This record gives sequence, C-alpha cells and structure tokens, in this order.
Amino acid sequence: MSSSGEPRRLLLRDLAQLVTPAGVSAPLRGQPLGDVEVIEDAYLLCEGGRIAGRGKMRDLGGIDGELDELDGRGLCAVPGLVDCHTHACFAGDRVEEFALRAAGAGYEELQAAGGGILATVQATRAEGEDGLRTVVRRHRQWMLRAGTTTFESKSGYGLDGETELASLRAIVGEGGIATWLGAHAVPTEFADADAYLDFALAEVLPEAAPLAQAADVFLERGAFSAEQARRYLLACREAGLDLRLHGDQFTEQGAVPLAIELGARSVDHLEATGDRGIRALADSEVVGVLLPASALFLGRPMPPARALVDSGAAVALATDFNPGSAFCESLPLVCSLACVQLGLSPGEALTACTVNAAHVLRRADRAGRLAPSYDADVALLDVPDWRYLAYHLGGDVVGAVVRGGQLVWRR
Ligand code: NIG
Ligand code: FE
Repeated sequence: MSSSGEPRRLLLRDLAQLVTPAGVSAPLRGQPLGDVEVIEDAYLLCEGGRIAGRGKMRDLGGIDGELDELDGRGLCAVPGLVDCHTHACFAGDRVEEFALRAAGAGYEELQAAGGGILATVQATRAEGEDGLRTVVRRHRQWMLRAGTTTFESKSGYGLDGETELASLRAIVGEGGIATWLGAHAVPTEFADADAYLDFALAEVLPEAAPLAQAADVFLERGAFSAEQARRYLLACREAGLDLRLHGDQFTEQGAVPLAIELGARSVDHLEATGDRGIRALADSEVVGVLLPASALFLGRPMPPARALVDSGAAVALATDFNPGSAFCESLPLVCSLACVQLGLSPGEALTACTVNAAHVLRRADRAGRLAPSYDADVALLDVPDWRYLAYHLGGDVVGAVVRGGQLVWRR
C-alpha cells in the first residue's frame, strides 16, 4: 500500500516495445505457439501487484493519484520468464566431474561409479536446512537477474526424509514451486530401487505431499524402471500431487506412454524420443518440456523440438539448472539454443518459457503474459528489439526485473 492507503501503482512508460504471447489460452501449440503481440512505444500499468492496463503511449490518458514511474526508453518488456524445471536446491558443486567430462569421461559412467547425483546427495545432506535456504536464495537471485520471475525447483538431492523435506521447505520458503523428486537416484544405504521406494513412499510422501505441487521421477537405465516409476507416480497421484517425469534423456524406457497413461502434467528431456513418442505426445495433453542447455552441457543430441511442434505437441522450455547436467540458470540462453539448435522461432521460444511453462505449473491464469489481471511480472530487456532475447547468444540482455508490480532488480 502507498502512504495514502491506495494499492501501489507503477507505470512503465515509453517502452520501445511491449511483447506478449498472443491469445488467452494455454498451452499454445502449432501455429499460435509462435504468435506474439508487439506494441511499439508502449506503456504498462501495474496496480496492486497485477497488470491494470497496457497499450500505446499515445492512448495513455491522465492517471490520478499516487504513481511511481519507470522510464522505459530503450527497453523492451516481455513477460517475466517462467522456469518450470530446475534442481535449485543442492549444496557443493561438480566442477571436478565437469573437468573429467571435458577430458572424455561420460556422465552415465561417472554416475555408475558413485559420482554424479549421489555426490551431490552427500553434500546436500551435510548442508542443513538453513544452509539449503541460503543456497536456494542465491540461485533464485541468479535466476531473477536472468529474467525469471516464477521458478519451479525439485528436491531430489536428499533422498532421506529429513533432507528431502528440508529441501521442499527451502524451495517454498524462497518463493519457488516445489516438486518432490523423491525418485531421483537410489541412495547407497538401500539394497535396490524397490527397497528405497518402499521407504520413500511410506515415510516421506505423507509429509512431502502438502509441501509440493508435483512429484517427479528419473525414468532411465541406471535409475528407475517404468514399473518402478508407475508405482511411485500412482502413490503420489493418490496423495494429490501432479505428476512429472524425467524421460527419454538417454534411452527410451517407456516414459512417454507412462506419462500419457497416468495423465502427467509433463514429460521432460525427450532427447532420445523417436517418431512414435512424438506422435503420442501430439495426441495428448502432456507437455513436453525441452531442456537444450542440458543436452548442450552433456554433449548429447538435442530433443526433436521441431517435429514435436509441427505435429501439434505442446512444448515448454526450461533450464534444468543443476550442478551436474546443466549448470545454467539462464532462460535467455535457453531461448538462443531453442532458435539455433532446436529450430524454433523467437516467438515460439518466448511462448514456450512463459505461457506454456506457466501451464505446466498450473499458473497460466496469472503468469506468462503481459495482459490485464495477470501478475505484474516483467523482464525488461535492455535491447532495441525483443528478439535479442534469443539473438544475443549468452548476452546480458535483461536490464531490470519487475515482480508483483515492484522493481526488484536493475543492472
Ligand atoms: O535433469 N537426469 C536427472 N537429473 C538431472 C541431473 C541431475 C544431476 O546430474 O545432478 C537432469 O539432468
Ligand atoms: Fe532435470
């Protein structure tokens, strides 16, 4: 509230461009995926944390009452970006592993030798809840500077009751949308995946369910089988959670049919998805979440994004930010990869990491568009044309960020 008791108002004025995915529905697929509305010389009015109006400067009438103003000259406004797939709650790093991979070691090979995810589990268990909260806050700040105003984060580096629940609380406490990745890897104290799942579903799920919005599983050779994933996901659905899967990252193990059978919200990765999987996804409500930074970081093939979009599947883009397979919090970089590696247009990339990502998180009614009644979350690009979002590879394109109608970061 302002001093007069009126809801706080902020006017972004004289914006070079205001850009938003067109239409009102979600998710967008096919041709509408790439349709964006561009208003040149624009304003955006924020009131009480929501968008109250937008349009051309010449149509802006007089506004009475208290008002903060932000000079938007030279800036392009796009919706605050939505990162619907991150692993932001981890301690330590995997820089040694990174150097080994640079010298030729394989990601799955390091994992099988007890490194990889399990190395991060050790560090995360040792961190304590306050430390995890600090880590998530730091990572959230990195994301914010890259234009992300809504983020999801998975747990999955605790894999014991205490650390999984501490992770979920840290994520929610820092404003994230939490996903319980209880089936990420099998911790060494269990004889096998089934024994671990017995424990996780009986001891952790009841307390994880009220904290998390969704459950996720790593369905892959060396992780969890389709049968184990089905068992885990069915129990999580029963507990009221949305379902998501890490699937087809290295090999097709039935993640796509399982996601469709169980009515999952999304299946993520898809680097190894073939024609049948593409067709099945196109005929379904399941969103394919594409993570090109992860494919790049691991030197893996890119997911078949163009074929997915052309066949009518709903796709979203996310960073997969994590210490092992994608140490990258930048959705602008992901948009660049979407254009230069996945064959998407800048408009398709923007919609995939705004409207469609918000849909995965059940936030499409309030995040992902610059339109009246949506949350006043805005990434202000310090560039002459909004397509620099994807065009400037690795560029520092985000000049300022507005969240809930308040300027929260400025370069
Ligand atoms: O999405 N593939 C499984 N999980 C993460 C990586 C986790 C890690 O390497 O720490 C992913 O790529
Ligand atoms: Fe992931």
